[in-house]
Amino acid sequence: MPLVDDLRLPIAREELERRRFLGLLGSGALGLAALGTLIAGVRYLEPDVLYEEDERFAIGRPEAIAVGTLLVCRARKLYVVHGPRGFYAISAVCSHFGCVTRHALGEDRITCPCHGSTFDLAGNVTKGPAPSGLVHFQLTLEHGVLIADLSSPVPSDTVLEV
Ligand code: FES
Repeated sequence: MPLVDDLRLPIAREELERRRFLGLLGSGALGLAALGTLIAGVRYLEPDVLYEEDERFAIGRPEAIAVGTLLVCRARKLYVVHGPRGFYAISAVCSHFGCVTRHALGEDRITCPCHGSTFDLAGNVTKGPAPSGLVHFQLTLEHGVLIADLSSPVPSDTVLEV
């Protein structure tokens, strides 16, 4: 029986195409493996860091916020209220299932679009199904600027007098 690689025998055209196809397939597989290794290597060299926003951030100067104003910090899911006794910050995240609540300009309530809970401007539940009021966060005054700290929940009667 003659060997396929015997140079004395002519190689059939189909055999040449099959070999070329298998060669291309092997080269493609090696190329993909090399690319995967390269991507994994580059990914390994990058620091595996989760970049999160700072929990403390500036709200603004208190004298610029009139009594009776409710500021909406949508990106931070926070309301800052200047009430008659002072400033307080309440979460915009509903205590029911975590939807972001809304406050329409001039309204004296905060509403949740998901299941219809409503809260007064102090964050107390006025209509369920929310089981509890909105979380209050610490506000401080640093160098004349109000600073909110989302890592520090405070009792709901906490007010920053300025
Ligand atoms: S998530 Fe707000 S009422 Fe259900």
